[in-house]
Amino acid sequence: MTRAKVWFLGAGPGAADLLTVRAARALAEADVVVWGKALMTDEMVAEHARADAELVPWPPATIADIHAVYDRARDEDLVVARLLWGDPAIYATTRDEVREARARELDFEIVPGVSAFCAAAAALEIELTRAPKTSQSLIITAPSAPEPLRDFARHGATIAIFMAGRRGEDLQTELLAGGYAPQTQCAIAHRVTRDGEVVITCRLDELSTTLVSPDLDSHTLVLVGAALADDFGRT
Ligand SMILES: C[S@@+](CC[C@H](N)C(=O)[O-])C[C@H]1O[C@@H](n2cnc3c(N)ncnc32)[C@H](O)[C@@H]1O
Repeated sequence: MTRAKVWFLGAGPGAADLLTVRAARALAEADVVVWGKALMTDEMVAEHARADAELVPWPPATIADIHAVYDRARDEDLVVARLLWGDPAIYATTRDEVREARARELDFEIVPGVSAFCAAAAALEIELTRAPKTSQSLIITAPSAPEPLRDFARHGATIAIFMAGRRGEDLQTELLAGGYAPQTQCAIAHRVTRDGEVVITCRLDELSTTLVSPDLDSHTLVLVGAALADDFGRT
């Protein structure tokens, strides 16, 4: 019987102890561990992976190298752990990776993880869907989404904007155009749960000047809307 398998593991927002128990167990079982260097640390892998596991950090590995690992898993009967940032359901290329596993008729399993927006909400001590007297909806999007951000703002929902980079000016313009008031609360989260964590709150009309902080690099998450209101939890 073959043991060849690819585990697509939600790696959480960065802290080594924010993997699920299931993900940590799968990682500890893997012959080969593949992970993205942008947000996952070598320490996280070292803490959970087998001492003799083959480590494939990406970069320097390329996507083609990763797919060659899947070929080897099939041909050499290997267990591969492919770590995906946060939760595999959110901007994580999971669909593409699953297609690659299916094309090789490899057994695979997806393990959920703690998404960055959940980690940011915890750092802010807020609940994202129980804003008092207002919308209880949460929209997850990114500046590259084909739908204009202003259309989402028209719903009055709280919005989590992934991969916000330093695009504060664009975001501010779009959200104001959609009808959010200038004083709407925003939060900028960067490297949440990791060394160098930055969580900054500001008004929407301050977003363009706040999202340029030198403490932030391209991997920022912006939360905006009623769930961040000052009086949250005091009703
Ligand atoms: C390609 S997406 C991956 C999202 C991931 N699947 C998740 O569920 O969090 C990368 C974006 O996630 C956000 N992100 C991931 N980890 C983060 C963290 N620790 N702190 C703040 N934002 C983070 C940033 O917006 C970053 O640009």
